[in-house]
Amino acid sequence: METIGVGLIGTGYMGKCHALAWTGVRAVFGDTPVVRRVALCEVEESLARRRADEFGFESSTSDWRALVANPSVDVVSITTPNAWHAPMAIAALDAGKHVWCEKPMAPALADAERMATAARAAGRVAILGFNYIQSPAIRYISKLLQRGAIGSVTHFRIEMDEDYMADADAPFSWKSEKSAGYGALDDFAVHPMSLISTLFGMPSEVFGEMRKPYADRPDGAGRRPVENFDIATILLRMGDGASGAIQVSRCAWGRKGRLQLQIFGAKGAILFDQERFNEVSVYLAEGPTEGHGFRTVLMGPTHPPYDRFIVAPGHQMGFNDLKIVEAHELLNRIAGKPSLTIDFDAGLAIEHAIHAAARSAAEGRWVEAWPCRTNLAGQPAKSAEISL
Ligand SMILES: NC(=O)c1ccc[n+]([C@@H]2O[C@H](COP(=O)([O-])OP(=O)(O)OC[C@H]3O[C@@H](n4cnc5c(N)ncnc54)[C@H](O)[C@@H]3O)[C@@H](O)[C@H]2O)c1
Repeated sequence: METIGVGLIGTGYMGKCHALAWTGVRAVFGDTPVVRRVALCEVEESLARRRADEFGFESSTSDWRALVANPSVDVVSITTPNAWHAPMAIAALDAGKHVWCEKPMAPALADAERMATAARAAGRVAILGFNYIQSPAIRYISKLLQRGAIGSVTHFRIEMDEDYMADADAPFSWKSEKSAGYGALDDFAVHPMSLISTLFGMPSEVFGEMRKPYADRPDGAGRRPVENFDIATILLRMGDGASGAIQVSRCAWGRKGRLQLQIFGAKGAILFDQERFNEVSVYLAEGPTEGHGFRTVLMGPTHPPYDRFIVAPGHQMGFNDLKIVEAHELLNRIAGKPSLTIDFDAGLAIEHAIHAAARSAAEGRWVEAWPCRTNLAGQPAKSAEISL
């Protein structure tokens, strides 16, 4: 394929990141088809037109079904609120398009199942926007683990904190609606799960806890009840005997984009924090004890794919670069090349673990992470329907 046609649905926070990724991927990697930005969709015509102009798309529409039906579109980027992921992804796959869908897969487990089924039936590539697995630091950590640098992993902890909803008077948005899912679990905990799935494999059992710090938020002239949970904790048991913990909060004042990973092994430890994501700290329990301590390794051209962005060490990558790497991995996968991606089947395992955590939070017991096929009433799980 010499040219690939892209359609983008949604142009908010993540939509712009996808647009930048599609704009930059060929310039950065050089080995991709020419990316043709064919069509862009927003809820409203004039906004769609303006964004198409800014992002360099050939056409715009307010009808996502028209975008999905466009014969010049080969791959659809879906960056709309969570509740839209399933209908848009399934329609795109049914129309024979490849799909790059933002996380989470879908708030309803049955919808996530339908998305995975549609991808299998279509035989097209369908991946999720788990950008953090794409960083050179995570690849370096994976390499360290694989070569046994810290021995067998005994325990890990991942915390993901931001403060964009820390203010009790932060306005109500779709992210506080039940239709968006459980809250911090769908918004944040899926990211640590993507790292766990990439570095260690999925947990066997989980124990969850969810909290709602503020009962309502400003909405128009009044206040509207918050429908999901801004804080969550998951304990994890891994099949090999290791244990882990995920703690996430959208209400953690001062934390802007913290995604801190601590991995402890029999012979050492590894630390990483997305707020300083060009650095990996490694502690090796070897040699004279007096010299023990964390050593910080700065990511540079020897940590792929940093070198594709800039040849000079010390100049650092940023968040949007992860999206460019993700677009490249997607294009690799479409071309049948090796690729690091979380496809809809792997994403489904993450969704099961998230639903299992929510179920555990409601029932106060350990729950098998896979499969979590029933809701609290023992019926096929179809939506985020847990209240504490
Ligand atoms: N990968 C990440 O790190 C990351 C970070 C933030 C958000 N996300 C995910 O990205 C998705 C979007 O989140 P966001 O923060 O960009 O939201 P946002 O509210 O900033 O943007 C959503 C956009 O979609 C548009 N939209 C809504 N319904 C539409 C429809 N039917 N047709 C066309 N456009 C429509 C909205 O007008 C808006 O511009 C969510 O699923 C979220 O979980 C991922």
